[in-house]
Amino acid sequence: MSLTVRPAPNPLRGRLRVPGDKSISHRAVLFGALARGTTRFAGLLEGEDVLATLAAVRALGCDASTTHVTGAPWRDVGLVDCGNSGTTARLLLGALAPRAGASLDGDASLRGRPMRRVTDPLGRMGASFTGGPGLPIRVEKRRLSGVTVEAAVASAQVKSAVLLAGLRAEGETRYVEPIATRDHTERLLTAMGAPLRREGTTLVVSEGELDALAITVPGDISSAAFWMVAAAIVPGSDLVIEGVGLNPTRTGVIDVLVRMGVAIEVDRVDAPEPYGTVRVRGGALRGTRIDGPLIPRLIDEIPVLAVAAAFAEGETTFADAAELRVKESDRVATTVAGLRALGIDADARPDGLVVRGTPGAVPPGLSEPYPFIDSAGDHRIAMAFAIAGLRLGAHVRGAACIATSYPSFHSTLARFAGA
Ligand code: S3P
Repeated sequence: MSLTVRPAPNPLRGRLRVPGDKSISHRAVLFGALARGTTRFAGLLEGEDVLATLAAVRALGCDASTTHVTGAPWRDVGLVDCGNSGTTARLLLGALAPRAGASLDGDASLRGRPMRRVTDPLGRMGASFTGGPGLPIRVEKRRLSGVTVEAAVASAQVKSAVLLAGLRAEGETRYVEPIATRDHTERLLTAMGAPLRREGTTLVVSEGELDALAITVPGDISSAAFWMVAAAIVPGSDLVIEGVGLNPTRTGVIDVLVRMGVAIEVDRVDAPEPYGTVRVRGGALRGTRIDGPLIPRLIDEIPVLAVAAAFAEGETTFADAAELRVKESDRVATTVAGLRALGIDADARPDGLVVRGTPGAVPPGLSEPYPFIDSAGDHRIAMAFAIAGLRLGAHVRGAACIATSYPSFHSTLARFAGA
């Protein structure tokens, strides 16, 4: 499926909501499947990735739908298909290791993604894996013991896998984070009664049970980021995004857009997962440098931030982001290839990319035929370049993958841009 986006004829104006947060949705389903009682959800993301997690917990013996999951002892199963979802695979590896056997597999992209970052620490706890190093991997249930894990990569998925295993391990499991990553797991496990505490940069969990909870999933800031950038690059735009998650471990995209000169107003409501309203108005953009501890706070937004950088005065550098190379695609390569296809000057670096913005030289709208951009099966690449198309026109090849995280993206695009 290919998506053609023409330059927006008018500024983007109005109010919108985005679907539920993908990271929180996975956790709501999975933790609910481990809990005593029935966990109810409002606003769960019905994207393919979360549906893969739902199908997995059903296969493991839980009654589950997009509105609830009832925890049950997990039974051994055969194949569990994680589709394109790294979060499903990595969190399940940790959850399964002390609880039930299963064979995890996924699509070609997921089979190519690193799993040793999870299987190595879990193996030290006593977990049993066959196959690997990537998927398919078979897990067998084992009695685990707590260890101290000094994480080599900043990854919330690895952290979550180790904590889920630690909840059913003898003694304390300690996880030392090199750089803070999204903390949805800590927030939700704590709310569900897990014996989990933080000591500086170390998370400490011991054996314990979870209790069911009513969970309201806020809108996904990673999905909202596409509209923030759309409003930032289409002159005269004024978009208000309501009900979006504003967990501080996820709001790097707002900080960077503000630094680039975008007018953003945030109205934040405190809650177990903070959320609120974000108003974004376009204006002149300037380049910036994005690196260090900021990277995990916006890792999934880098492709669309690189699109914003294309319309900024000066250079924008993304560094310390080698993790981009092992996402749903090699996002350094696919982002640079997409920008170049649109005539933007961009270079790959081992740990990121450099974009040389050319706001003056960028034509207000290229004439048809618009350039082709290949999504490489990566939902965030497909959506980032659909947004670039609002300025330059673009044909995005392989757009069906958008359903991974944002099934209603097309209808919102059509509503605001007539695409
Ligand atoms: C996620 C963590 C991040 C992110 C991914 C979702 C999560 O991955 O890129 O889209 O839900 O924990 P890493 O943990 O590999 O950094």
